[in-house]
Amino acid sequence: MGLLAALHGHCFTPGWSEMDMARLLAMPGSLALIALQDSPVGFLIGRQVACEAEIISVGVIPAARATGVGAALLTTYAQHPSMRPVTEIFLEVAVDNHPAIALYAAQGFRKVGLRPEYYAAPGKSGIKTDAILMRRRLPDADPASENGNATGD
Ligand SMILES: CC(C)(COP(=O)(O)OP(=O)(O)OC[C@H]1O[C@@H](n2cnc3c(N)ncnc32)[C@H](O)[C@@H]1OP(=O)(O)O)[C@@H](O)C(=O)NCCC(=O)NCCS
Repeated sequence: MGLLAALHGHCFTPGWSEMDMARLLAMPGSLALIALQDSPVGFLIGRQVACEAEIISVGVIPAARATGVGAALLTTYAQHPSMRPVTEIFLEVAVDNHPAIALYAAQGFRKVGLRPEYYAAPGKSGIKTDAILMRRRLPDADPASENGNATGD
């Protein structure tokens, strides 16, 4: 839990505590991945319920960004054996988080909704940011989405 909380703290402000991580990972269907180079550089926390999964959080430490780690984490999660029943993966991302939106789009996620004023901006009391809801259909559900060509969402 300490490692996950430390990685999260390198990627988000405010970071989540060890207790937050313990609560998340105690939920049925939750899964955490850690990306290693010489040392831990990224993480992904997901949760699966029946045929749906959700990316709860994903991050790569600044020094290791733009080297394919985020993409590898998302691919590994989608291909994990525990994900066999899953046909759709959902996530939320802030409308102004352009690197993450580009990563998700490259991984076959498509916009399926908008959540107004979803995120509170740290240090800017009262200011909230909208979130885009994105979905990736896994290949068994929609073969066209396997190579990121899914459209119509
Ligand atoms: C979003 C994040 C996880 C991306 O991780 P990463 O390891 O840097 O991403 P990758 O190197 O795997 O990039 C894969 C693809 O994503 C896109 N991408 C990633 N960073 C990008 C950037 N800064 N600008 C534009 N596109 C970007 C590109 O399409 C890239 O493919 P390419 O290298 O072939 O062009 C990372 O920037 C991060 O941790 N950000 C802070 C935490 C965060 O915002 N998490 C997501 C919350 S929803």
